[in-house]
Amino acid sequence: MRALEDDILRVCISENEINEMVNRISKEIIKDYGNKNPLFIGILKGCIPFMTDLLKKTTIPSTLDYMKVSSYSGKESTGKITIKGDFPDVKDRDVIIVEDILDTGRTLFEIKKLMIEKGAKSVSLCVLLDKPEGRKVDINADYVGGIVPNEFVVGYGLDYNEKYRNLPYIGVLKEEVYKN
Ligand code: IMP
Ligand code: MG
Repeated sequence: MRALEDDILRVCISENEINEMVNRISKEIIKDYGNKNPLFIGILKGCIPFMTDLLKKTTIPSTLDYMKVSSYSGKESTGKITIKGDFPDVKDRDVIIVEDILDTGRTLFEIKKLMIEKGAKSVSLCVLLDKPEGRKVDINADYVGGIVPNEFVVGYGLDYNEKYRNLPYIGVLKEEVYKN
């Protein structure tokens, strides 16, 4: 059996480093939102491991919702986002959007705009990773775990064709994986 690890060329961010990033972000959010009863909205499916770890550490009064958005197929952003299912009720809420990675910025730009249109009191962006070189629209995250260079990464929620989300670290795939 070929294990998932066998497809990884190198680890960019270890499990320990991810843990430290989550701890740091959690402290920042507790400081900023301790009295605001924020609404965490996770963008499925990439947010799952990050959101789970983050919420367990961010023990302030808050509520939780999610959205399913697709913008990617394979390695390239299609530039077009589709929202699937219900839009969360954000009216008068201080929203914290939780996402795996900010790349071109198109996804979070659109979602943030829609939330403000639907009456959110405030919207901040919390991402595990930021890939600033990939940016195509003017948007920045309020909470960032780490910066990655402009290469495709997988693991801890991030996928390549739906695979590798369950790796506990962030890594780069071997070239041969893309040829199959
Ligand atoms: P954006 O709209 O280009 O910022 O796209 C954000 C989405 O693209 C993320 O939620 C990811 O699903 C996906 N994405 C961007 N870069 C990567 C990557 O390096 N690996 C896996 N998915 C990525
Ligand atoms: Mg995603």
